[in-house]
Amino acid sequence: MSANLKTASAAALPDIDALRAQFPILHQQINGKPLVYLDNAASAQRPDCVIDAISQYYRADHANVHRGVHTLSDRATQIFEQARETAARFVNASSSREIVWTRGTTEAINLVAQSYARPKLTAGDEILISWMEHHANIVPWQMVAEQTGARLRVVPISDAGEIDMSAFEQMLGERTRLVAVGHVSNSLGTINPVAEIVRLAHAREVPVLLDGAQAAPHLEIDVQALGCDFYAFSGHKVFGPTGIGVLWARESLLEAMPPWHGGGEMIRTVSFEGSTWNELPFKFEAGTPHIAGAVGLGVALEWFMNQDRAALARHEAQLLAECTACIESLPGLRIVGTAADKVSVVAFVADDIHAHDLGTILDHEGVAIRTGHHCTMPLMERFNVPATARASMAFYNTSAEIESLHAALERAIKLFRA
Ligand code: ALA
Repeated sequence: MSANLKTASAAALPDIDALRAQFPILHQQINGKPLVYLDNAASAQRPDCVIDAISQYYRADHANVHRGVHTLSDRATQIFEQARETAARFVNASSSREIVWTRGTTEAINLVAQSYARPKLTAGDEILISWMEHHANIVPWQMVAEQTGARLRVVPISDAGEIDMSAFEQMLGERTRLVAVGHVSNSLGTINPVAEIVRLAHAREVPVLLDGAQAAPHLEIDVQALGCDFYAFSGHKVFGPTGIGVLWARESLLEAMPPWHGGGEMIRTVSFEGSTWNELPFKFEAGTPHIAGAVGLGVALEWFMNQDRAALARHEAQLLAECTACIESLPGLRIVGTAADKVSVVAFVADDIHAHDLGTILDHEGVAIRTGHHCTMPLMERFNVPATARASMAFYNTSAEIESLHAALERAIKLFRA
């Protein structure tokens, strides 16, 4: 390789040490070994600036929002609404009126199920999801189906873990009222062809909800380019706090939807004869919101948008390739989820060792992975496995950590096969 090319390719990757230095939790020992945190799909970690912003908010700026005439309340409201503006930029919403704070992706999907779908659905209507959905994108639809007599239909997936697009097209029918799919699968890492899914659904005037919980930490999200109608993501998977998330929806849809939860903040007037609703997005935000959560998420999103996202993506692609090669090199391990287009998530099974046992031994070595059904029990059935072990990488993971995973797995295999 020429010196020039070497410089160019070195410049193309982010300075991981400098990034890691901003994540204090990563620098500790677990069971006497350096922590190797490969459970980012369950929950990612936070940089100092997010932790500091939450602390600063409580130390200096907290009061209730949208309620007081006093200075602190005004300041808290401004910080809170600035975070909403940041979230709007993060997904490229056309207005912050389209950003509803929720507790997370799960609550966002439940909001759409109860406020958008429930009033519209009648017996025999259909909601279309895929076989790889997280329980959060299955159960709210089952509940609303039960309430209305609608039917949940499930699009099959291939052995590689990709949506069967011709089945999807066929299953989009006269009675389909909504399509709800994950942008990225939490259990397989598959990036679904969501723009194409939206195109096909819209050709039949069917709106589309995208569960973006696993996409937001890896992909640049542009709801206008995707063309979807609803997009949900969670703060804690995108380097922000837990207990806060976002529902983005087209303003016209939100305007037409009734509120879901009733209480303070979401009202304009209340009398015993009846109440009227606040404007968007407050109509969907009953009660005192998770102000500090929104503040922390705003800072997390701002921090993330300020990184060289293309460089982070290149680094994650390299980690994905290394982790895939690591699992493939170990005898008796098999990857579950081999789609052509994936984020840095690698799920695997050992035919003779339970995933939980692997996870426990890895923890002794300081390596944190998730094991179990990953809130996708139907997907486990589809692959005929009770559970998988899953390594999920963020941009702050390193090649050396993949080597630690490899060494820990070798030790676990040796132990169980002795
Ligand atoms: N949905 C999260 C996961 O995939 C919790 O682990």
